[in-house]
Amino acid sequence: KKERTLAMVKPDAVSKLGDILEMLHAANLTVTKAKMTKLTWSQAADFYKEHQSKPFYSNLVQFMSSGPVVAMELMGDEAIVAWRRLLGPTDSAVARREAQHSVRACFGTDGVQNAGHGSDSIAAAAREVEFFFPSTGSHGPANTA
Ligand code: CMP
Repeated sequence: KKERTLAMVKPDAVSKLGDILEMLHAANLTVTKAKMTKLTWSQAADFYKEHQSKPFYSNLVQFMSSGPVVAMELMGDEAIVAWRRLLGPTDSAVARREAQHSVRACFGTDGVQNAGHGSDSIAAAAREVEFFFPSTGSHGPANTA
């Protein structure tokens, strides 16, 4: 089933974008929209608001607004799970312990500095694509904060 998802290359892996694009190409995922942008603290807080009660939330928001990110809309067969499989486990140390070649194993450091993000559902993909690529006119991440 053809799906779309939102992929984000986090600040720690933007310099590895070329390698990540190669991995996407090898996995048959197509980049249909892309932008590089620096999130403000409140934009990062809004993007991750479902995690606001988690102990890692402030570190996550701080990190995600520390430098530019690359947001991409990906299209492909089962794109949501395909991109999450390519990312690997959330914790980069766990990803490295797995034999599988993944974005986080190659380019991440730990659970917060973990190189990339992927939508986890069709509903999240719709919200997150709209966050970075609003259909209603203006460019840039929607700032609802
Ligand atoms: P991401 O896919 O961007 O979605 C939520 C993020 O929260 C996740 O990647 C991690 O960066 C972070 N995260 C999730 N779980 C943990 C955890 N247990 N410890 C630290 N960070 C986490």
